[in-house]
Amino acid sequence: MKICVLPGDGIGPEIVAEAVRVLNALDLPFELEEALLGGCAVDATGHPYPEATQKLALAADAILLGAVGGPQWDALPREQRPERGLLGIRKQLGLFANLRPAILYPELANASTLKPEVVSGLDILIVRELTGDIYFGQPRGIERRVVDGKNQRFGFNTMHYTESEIQRIGRVAFESARKRNKKLCSIDKMNVLETTQLWRDVMNELAPEYPDVELSHMLVDNAAMQLVKAPKQFDVMVTGNMFGDILSDEASMLTGSIGMLPSASLDENGKGMYEPCHGSAPDIAGQGVANPLATILSVAMMLRYTFSMEEAAQRIEGAVKKVLAQGFRTGDIYEPGTHKVGTKAMGDAVLAAL
Ligand code: IPM
Ligand code: MG
Repeated sequence: MKICVLPGDGIGPEIVAEAVRVLNALDLPFELEEALLGGCAVDATGHPYPEATQKLALAADAILLGAVGGPQWDALPREQRPERGLLGIRKQLGLFANLRPAILYPELANASTLKPEVVSGLDILIVRELTGDIYFGQPRGIERRVVDGKNQRFGFNTMHYTESEIQRIGRVAFESARKRNKKLCSIDKMNVLETTQLWRDVMNELAPEYPDVELSHMLVDNAAMQLVKAPKQFDVMVTGNMFGDILSDEASMLTGSIGMLPSASLDENGKGMYEPCHGSAPDIAGQGVANPLATILSVAMMLRYTFSMEEAAQRIEGAVKKVLAQGFRTGDIYEPGTHKVGTKAMGDAVLAAL
């Protein structure tokens, strides 16, 4: 079983190192191979998703990714930016189903900016479509055009979804809801956007196949509001690429720290890329203070979804719960009375708890 490891940029290498230590400690027959993605790949090869990485990623059963990006690459042409590498690997591998859980650990209730009674026990799963929508739609660009009688710059993107793209992400969402509390809320903007009217129609057409799941719909602006007002009304949420990008950041902060949240991006056969929801945090890179738990929990998701090793997945999740109960905290989740540790010491604590 092959795992392609892509540490990436910023804090990526530090947090991935801890996740790899945890993976190795499980003593499972995995073959790990490292490659470059993002800004580090641009610096080394001129391309954010170089051919050597593509080869490894295509051949692997699963991919473990740290994070990509940083201010030093923001001025490059769009084609060479680290983010393009991330979008490229998602698209090339057909990783259309992005699962982003937002779970509040009871020990971290005070880390949330919301009142504990609003968020305590929070456990949401956002299912985000990841290879379509306005992110990939053509035509797109910035051009000079004559508009309103004036020759001026004109920016444009295209939002689109096919019926089958909506069906396949819908099925993943219904199946996920089935394994949880059987409640699915689909998010759209059907009062304005035709693409998302189709989204709602297709979700409704799928519903009879899942009579045990209760399907509801919500407009995205209302969903953004409801997430901070009464987040516990949600169990599984399903939405398109752009709305999912925004709502998943919002949902993650309900839990206090984005440093705790893993994610999985799956193709049709269970192959997946696993990464923390947070970014490369260039401001703290190289200091040994980043929280490795989201990446370690991403390894648990990898074991569960790609390798069907539920027991090993739960062992990692149990170890993370234990270190929180023991009081270990990285800076992002620290509060007085707990024990502040750096990236490596947090990894040590998880290893000991395993
Ligand atoms: C995410 C990120 C990416 C996205 C960026 C880095 C391209 O924000 O994974 O949510 O927008 O999908
Ligand atoms: Mg995002």
